[in-house]
Amino acid sequence: MKFITAKDIAHYSFDSLFADALRYLEADLARWQEFKKSSRHATHFDHGVFELMPVADDSYYTYKYVNAHPGNPTHGKLSIVALGMLADVATGYPQLVCDMTLLTAIRTAAMSAIAAKHLADKDSRVLGLIGTGAQSEFQVHAMREVFPLTSVRYFDRDEEAMAKFARNLRGSGLTLIACKSAEEVVQEKLDILTTCICEKAKVQLFRYDAVKDNDRLFINAIGGDCPGKTELDPDVLRHGRIVVEFYEQTKREGEIQNLAGATVCDELWEIVQGKKAGRRKEDRIIVFDSVGFALADFSMLRMMYERGIGRNIALLPELKNPKDLFAIF
Ligand SMILES: NC(=O)c1ccc[n+]([C@@H]2O[C@H](COP(=O)([O-])OP(=O)(O)OC[C@H]3O[C@@H](n4cnc5c(N)ncnc54)[C@H](O)[C@@H]3O)[C@@H](O)[C@H]2O)c1
Repeated sequence: MKFITAKDIAHYSFDSLFADALRYLEADLARWQEFKKSSRHATHFDHGVFELMPVADDSYYTYKYVNAHPGNPTHGKLSIVALGMLADVATGYPQLVCDMTLLTAIRTAAMSAIAAKHLADKDSRVLGLIGTGAQSEFQVHAMREVFPLTSVRYFDRDEEAMAKFARNLRGSGLTLIACKSAEEVVQEKLDILTTCICEKAKVQLFRYDAVKDNDRLFINAIGGDCPGKTELDPDVLRHGRIVVEFYEQTKREGEIQNLAGATVCDELWEIVQGKKAGRRKEDRIIVFDSVGFALADFSMLRMMYERGIGRNIALLPELKNPKDLFAIF
């Protein structure tokens, strides 16, 4: 059985991991119907959430354990850490245990890039970013892979997080425009807006009025991903086209939880498979209401497993007689 730490993963370059992540995730979205899918299981506390995210095809069963604790950075800890496991469907034996903190950032960025590829203007140059925490640089690099970006307008209520973001993107060739508020980010015409704050509240980062005249905007909303944790003015959704990962899960966890009744949404796999159109002439604002779905983690675990990364450890009992577990003592 393989064991993979964050350091083992970081040994590879971001670019090579990201290129593979895109490839694996696109391939798995293209065979969406082959997966046994379900909404994730969530255990809520006032200060955070624990989630288990299982999915399987005929070869592998995977699940990710992930938390979201918005107050953690004030104690020097990440808001989000994750562990993943991949098991062999034929025997049920776990084959891989893996840190998924980095891979969550990479797979989320890959999912955002795939959605944007289909739903944003092909000539997108100006990116807006609200929330410059752990996910932010991954998000910018992902969009850069797909679009001829020239500038990023960004804001975080934490000035240190903004300074860190600017430091990490220095030398990227992008013009970095620090804004004083979320409203200021959207005040100039954007092609893509990524919202990725971490706050356990129903936040409205800006009003619909602030973006209503932008007729080609793609909003990649990744931070609203839990009941009671959203980022957008519901009027933005009411006036836009909405795309989700897996409606059954998103209706409870995504921005659409703030809309009454069933909401008309497309699922991203339908667009990837050509069953639904990507950006159409009549589309103005399109919101990718992303909450994070188990399939993206499956793709990352499959990628790690098939790349043969990690060291072997004997975590499970190794027995001569499988009926004699007691012999281990
Ligand atoms: N959709 C997905 O698949 C997915 C995957 C990973 C993370 N997420 C979500 O993305 C969000 C960001 O994750 P992260 O790891 O970067 O978290 P983080 O805590 O590292 O960063 C969040 C940033 O948001 C800022 N912030 C909080 N409230 C704000 C506000 N009202 N205005 C401006 N800035 C504000 C914080 O100062 C912080 O810098 C989280 O909510 C997380 O749950 C979603």
